[in-house]
Amino acid sequence: MDVQNLSISVGNNPIVRNVSFSIEAGKTLGIVGESGCGKSLTSLAIMGLLEGTQVRLTSGRVIFEGTDILKVSVSERRALLGSRMAMIFQEPMTSLNPVYRIGDQIVEMILQHEPVGRTAAMQRAADLLRRVRIPDPESRLKSFPHQLSGGMRQRVMIAIALASNPVLLIADEPTTALDVTVQAQILDLLEELKTESGMGVILISHDLGVIAQTCHSVAVMYRGQIVEACSTVELFANPLHPYTGGLIVSIPDAYSNVDELNAIPGRVPTIDERISGCAFHPRCHCAKDNCSTQAPQTIQRADHLYQCHYPLEASS
Ligand SMILES: Nc1ncnc2c1ncn2[C@@H]1O[C@H](COP(=O)(O)OP(=O)(O)OP(=O)(O)O)[C@@H](O)[C@H]1O
Ligand SMILES: [Mg+2]
Repeated sequence: MDVQNLSISVGNNPIVRNVSFSIEAGKTLGIVGESGCGKSLTSLAIMGLLEGTQVRLTSGRVIFEGTDILKVSVSERRALLGSRMAMIFQEPMTSLNPVYRIGDQIVEMILQHEPVGRTAAMQRAADLLRRVRIPDPESRLKSFPHQLSGGMRQRVMIAIALASNPVLLIADEPTTALDVTVQAQILDLLEELKTESGMGVILISHDLGVIAQTCHSVAVMYRGQIVEACSTVELFANPLHPYTGGLIVSIPDAYSNVDELNAIPGRVPTIDERISGCAFHPRCHCAKDNCSTQAPQTIQRADHLYQCHYPLEASS
């Protein structure tokens, strides 16, 4: 998938600006940034799920297997997305229906994609639960969502996403609602499934620690823009944007003795606040005069993209 210059507005407020990235089969791209920076809107736009809301796409192309999915009809897009792309969300309890057994919910998904009978679909549902490493899947099919732990429910959501054998999986904060041990298990599971199936994965998170564990490459978003993008190894070895630097030092370290976390000062501005120049300048320790007047262009150094007048190595 190749996303080019995607821009999204709510009313007259641009929220996502000129976002471009690409993702290959068998690779994981991480999108990271603080709450409200436009990560979910970007993924909903890619899935074609913004229709019928007050949010508008103002520009951009999303080329998926050779087709611009923003240009095709709604029915063509649904067919394409239902069978080739899948999405999992942050809170499984809001996506699972509490009054139906999970077996019936998975079967419903399978029947939408495959011309099989109910018994065969139930068998396939058990196979999917086995694939997401749920023990004793036959009896688990009869459980209601509230009878499962949070981690189990997220596994069920992943099983539902896999029912259509997607080639691209978008996981929007898939582990945020889970404790850290279960979080690590779900990330390992996504990694195993990606290796088994060769699908591409977009992993969205506000937690750079989560991204570091699984992603080949990373796009760092701030206020609707990608401010830095490169391989994960390069990002941690040589962060150039001060915002990325701030995110890296704010990853909590369980072994250190410090009393205070290194949070980035201030907050992400709201969408109707106008900020001239670089959107990060009010919070940036590297900012100089022109940062408040002149918006930085995207600069490419080898495979490393960044938007900053005074990148970290130059300012230190
Ligand atoms: N339907 C909508 N109508 C109006 N504003 C919206 C809508 N959806 C999102 N927004 C606004 O757009 C901005 C970006 O939202 P988005 O959900 O993409 O953020 P996010 O990066 O996913 O944050 P989080 O980490 O909290 O999930 C936010 O300021 C949000 O309030
Ligand atoms: Mg979100």
